[in-house]
Amino acid sequence: MASPLVDVHTHVYLPRYAEVLRSRSAAPRILTQNGEERLVILENEPSGGRPVGPQYWAREEKLRFMDLHGIDISIVSTANPWLDFFEAAEAHTVAKQLNDDMEEYCASSPAYADGPLKRLYGMGLLPLVPGISIDALLGCIAQIKALPHLHGLIMGTRGIGKGLDDEALEPVWKAIADAGLVVFLHPHYGVDSGAWGEKDNGHVLPLALGFPFETTTAITRFILAGVYDRVPDLRILLAHSGGTLPQLSSRLASCIDHDPVVAARLKHDARFYLGKLYFDAVCYGPEELGFVSEIVSRSERYAPGADNSSFVVANRKTGSGRMMFGTDHPFFPPLSSTEKWKSVVENLDAIDTVSGWDKEEKDGVRGGNALKIFGIL
Ligand code: URA
Ligand code: ZN
Repeated sequence: MASPLVDVHTHVYLPRYAEVLRSRSAAPRILTQNGEERLVILENEPSGGRPVGPQYWAREEKLRFMDLHGIDISIVSTANPWLDFFEAAEAHTVAKQLNDDMEEYCASSPAYADGPLKRLYGMGLLPLVPGISIDALLGCIAQIKALPHLHGLIMGTRGIGKGLDDEALEPVWKAIADAGLVVFLHPHYGVDSGAWGEKDNGHVLPLALGFPFETTTAITRFILAGVYDRVPDLRILLAHSGGTLPQLSSRLASCIDHDPVVAARLKHDARFYLGKLYFDAVCYGPEELGFVSEIVSRSERYAPGADNSSFVVANRKTGSGRMMFGTDHPFFPPLSSTEKWKSVVENLDAIDTVSGWDKEEKDGVRGGNALKIFGIL
C-alpha cells in the first residue's frame, strides 16, 4: 500500500458542541450577526471573532477538504476551548457524550482505499476543569480506550486549574500511558495580551506568538516537574511543531544547570526530553521543519551513556520519525471554497522540499509515522 497522507492536526466542533456554543451569551460562543454566524472563543477577541460555517461541524465538509488536498486519513480532535468553560459535573457528562459522538463521526466514515481502515479517526476529551475528581478523569480515559476509532485525546494547557505540572494529575498521566493513548497538547489562551500593544493587528500576535508560547510554557513546566522520569512511556504530541521549545531548549538546559533545585529534580539534561515528545509538522516552512527534526534528533546525545561531546547527530531519523503532517483545518480558510488552502499547500511543500530527509522520512512525516504512533495500523 502506498503511504497515505494523514492529518493529525484537524479539528471539529461536533454538532452537539456547536449547539452549546450557540446557546451561550459569553465567550466561547457562536453568535449570529447580520445573518452570519461568528465564533468568538475569547472575551475581547480581535475583529469580533471569525465567520464560521459548516466546515466547522459537518463531516461532509471535512471529507471534501480532505479530497481537495489529497488527504487520505484524518485524526480529528475537538477544537479549543474544549470543556474548559463547564462546571465539573456538566463537563463530565458532556465529555462522555462528545467521546461517543466522535466515535460515531469516525466509525460511520468511508473506508480508506476500500481496505480495513477508515478515513476518519478521532481523539477524545477529558473533563479537565477545576473540581473534577481524578476518578472521573480515569473513567473517561477508560471510555476513550474502549472506543475503537479513538486513538488519543486532545487537551489544553491548564490541567484541572493548576497546569500540567499539578501533582494531582500523576495518576492521569500514568493511566493515559497505560492505555496507549496519544495526548495532543494544544493551546487556546495564548499569553498575557498586555504584550500585544494598542495597534489593531487582528489575530496575528495571539495566533502567531501567543499560541506557541502557551504550548512552550505548558510543556516546559511538565518537563521541569519530572513527569517524564516517572512516566517515561507517555506520548505527547505538541501542536505547531512544539512552539518555541526546540529553539529554546539549550537555553532551558543552561538555566536548569544554574538552578540546582530544579537540576536535582530531573534525571536528564532538558534536551533529552525533546526526544520523548512528538511534533506536528505545522510550521509552514522547510527550514523550520528541518530545524525541529535536527533538534529532536540531538536528544540522542543526552541519552544515558551517550557521548554528548560530538556534534554528529547519530541518527537524523530520530527527529523526523517523531513528526507528523497536520493542517489545523478548519482554521485559516482561503477566501473561496474551491481553492486549495495556502496553509496546507505550504506545509506539504515544506515536507517535499526540506533538506536532508530521504523519501522514507518524507513518507513517514506525510502519514506513516502517524499510523504507527497512533496505533492505527
Ligand atoms: N487554530 C486552532 O486550533 N484554534 C484557533 O482558535 C485558531 C487556530
Ligand atoms: Zn489547532
